[in-house]
Amino acid sequence: MKRIGILTSGGDSPGMNAAVWAAVRVGRGADMQILGVVDGFKGLIEEQVIELDSAQVEDVLDRGGTFLGTARCAEMMTEEGRAKAVATVRKLRLDGLIVVGGDGSYQGARVLSDRGVPTVGLPGTIDNDLAYTDYTIGFDTALNTVCDSVLKIRDTMRSHDRVGIIEVMGRHCGDIALNAAVACGADYVLVPELNYEEEFDLSNVARRIEDIYATQRTYATIILAEGVCYDMEHRAYEFCKRLAEKTGKSVRETVLGYTQRGGSPSIYDRRLAINMADRAVRLLNQGIGNRVIGRRNGEIFDMDITAALNLPRVFNRPLYDLANRLAGSAEELKAERTTF
Ligand code: F6P
Repeated sequence: MKRIGILTSGGDSPGMNAAVWAAVRVGRGADMQILGVVDGFKGLIEEQVIELDSAQVEDVLDRGGTFLGTARCAEMMTEEGRAKAVATVRKLRLDGLIVVGGDGSYQGARVLSDRGVPTVGLPGTIDNDLAYTDYTIGFDTALNTVCDSVLKIRDTMRSHDRVGIIEVMGRHCGDIALNAAVACGADYVLVPELNYEEEFDLSNVARRIEDIYATQRTYATIILAEGVCYDMEHRAYEFCKRLAEKTGKSVRETVLGYTQRGGSPSIYDRRLAINMADRAVRLLNQGIGNRVIGRRNGEIFDMDITAALNLPRVFNRPLYDLANRLAGSAEELKAERTTF
């Protein structure tokens, strides 16, 4: 009987539980034993595992968060931690491991693969920042949460003739900001891929706001990714204050923060997690590791973990241009970068 482990790691994302649920269902159906590792790589290092059967995961499919727990594990970056993790795998006689997480977690998965532990990665992060896959598990739910909030904020901005600045997550990747901007028809979007300058200026943003107020309506919505001026304290507040000074408008900021990571996974994320987990279990059942699962052009696929990690992220320029075309005038479209 094959025996595999599964862990969730890094920032949690809606759909991680669905992935574990599916791995247990499919694995048990294939007569495999499934062990859940508690709190990500930390639990692997500290031998914190629980045996999972269908009854234990019965009600987790649609639950937000991760019932296994997760952690950002600095010890997994050390030789000692890595050796302990491998020792746990050997001691528990695991034939393989599924790691659900983002790029940091994939580094850990690669280390285990390099040391002979068949490991398969599932992309679990709201950021959608893994280049090899079109979608990560949790991104769709986070986007829905963001869009719901943006529309609510817009209601009150409209009532008060205000500019609403909504800060969303995405440390290096503007996908949440960009997709929310398009889906909500935001008036401006700032993403880390383009708007990374540290000095505040905001002339492009101010120009667009003034133009909107002069010609269309007296409220506006701006989406700001947290990766823009990432190291700046109270970024959204600063942005708000300076935009108000520049335009003379009433401006209010909202930082959506961790609301984006919680909540029941959308149907899209559940299906994605389930299909990916199924693929991962089947690979490990055949003794195949060193892979990550992705979705491209509507198809679930797997590829080499190192090749996946080496792929450079390509900024979705056409989508950014569309966000601008939806929001701005032809003249404003010439502006490529905004300095704070
Ligand atoms: O990894 C996803 C993410 O939500 C990022 O968008 C964000 O910058 C980060 O996690 C926050 O992490 P933490 O939980 O460590 O505060």
